[in-house]
Amino acid sequence: MSKLRETAALFLGAIPVFLGYETWKGDEKFYSNILMPAIHNCFSPETAHNLAIKLLSLGLVPKGKNEQYDKLSCKVFGQTFSNPLGIAAGFDKHAEAIDGLNKLGFGFVEVGSITPLPQEGNAKPRVFRLPEDKVVINRYGFNSCGHDAAAARLDKLTKECNINRCKTLFNTVSGIGTIVLGVNLGKNKESTDFTKDYTDGVTKLGKYADYIVINVSSPNTPGLRSLQGRQNLQDLCTNVVTVKEGLPNKPSILVKIAPDLTEDDKQDIAYALLQSKVDGLIVSNTTVARPSTLVNSHKSERGGLSGKPLCEIIINSLSFLFPGKLPIIGVGGIWNGKDAYDKIKAGASLIQIYTSLIYEGPPLVGKIKRELNQLLEKDGFTNVAEAVGADH
Ligand SMILES: Cc1cc2nc3c(=O)[nH]c(=O)nc-3n(C[C@H](O)[C@H](O)[C@H](O)COP(=O)(O)O)c2cc1C
Repeated sequence: MSKLRETAALFLGAIPVFLGYETWKGDEKFYSNILMPAIHNCFSPETAHNLAIKLLSLGLVPKGKNEQYDKLSCKVFGQTFSNPLGIAAGFDKHAEAIDGLNKLGFGFVEVGSITPLPQEGNAKPRVFRLPEDKVVINRYGFNSCGHDAAAARLDKLTKECNINRCKTLFNTVSGIGTIVLGVNLGKNKESTDFTKDYTDGVTKLGKYADYIVINVSSPNTPGLRSLQGRQNLQDLCTNVVTVKEGLPNKPSILVKIAPDLTEDDKQDIAYALLQSKVDGLIVSNTTVARPSTLVNSHKSERGGLSGKPLCEIIINSLSFLFPGKLPIIGVGGIWNGKDAYDKIKAGASLIQIYTSLIYEGPPLVGKIKRELNQLLEKDGFTNVAEAVGADH
């Protein structure tokens, strides 16, 4: 009997050791099938997210494989990326976890959206998981620390690095390779001068950024999406480009658009962007549409929907906008190397993820890079840049 008890105690004692080891090792299946579902059972989406940001800000990331692939290194907007996979805006809203995200193996990190003044955002709960649908619905409403707090954080990070080595955070944050930093700008809910909200952002945060994103596509700030109209967008972008020309590092200017646009809307946007001389486009933000396939009971929650259903919508938008004259970051519903590859072949020079990371956990970064590298290899591409727009 005591032998049985000893064996049981040994077995029970081994469980936390096994779980701890698998967590540290960053096993893909362990994360997607065991750890992430367990975390989702224990914590609300917002609490789980805050916990992830805390761990990343402390540099606590799974060991993972974090392999570098020569084929994935590329040059876009005049910047060198160690790989084309970035973390999308909304994950590190307050620029707290840049180094941790870099260590996860992302080729670039986009922080924000950051508004001029701090604001709370909408009432909680404001994020919902729909696991059966591989979807998240959020209505955060630009909860933001504001420009000053973000600038202080980026300033500290820059000083902690060897700032003499380069002009921005680029190449200085981590020891594992190069990282490109994007700063995504939003407007305050109560603001009446939207142009000033964005130009102030460029003045205050532009010097830390390799690229700046004008986010005119969040569905959770009333009136924001109307800034995608031809004249509004052209005027806004022209002002932003003028302000950035005054900065010593001259970050690239990108505009992030919604997926819910008609062909006419897209034509207007393409015209406005080319006229105002911005450097690129991010396609796309979350959608207000609710696909009929959704099954989870949260499907009618208000807000922007992200995840798997976006994948096809984005491919169609990329096909419409490509071959354009501007580089595009493709984001929406990327779950594996094939999804990433399809976006690249449809015209995206770079790609980003958010929702899939919520469900699959950090090992997904290495998995997407590995699979993308294999697909490029299989089709005989020597570099990812050769595959951009290959479907056209
Ligand atoms: C919880 C959440 C918050 C987000 N917040 C922002 C944001 O502040 N600014 C922004 O430009 N996009 C934001 N996004 C949109 C993402 O950057 C991305 O465009 C979208 O989720 C599609 O990618 P995905 O399907 O890989 O998640 C948010 C997305 C989610 C899920």
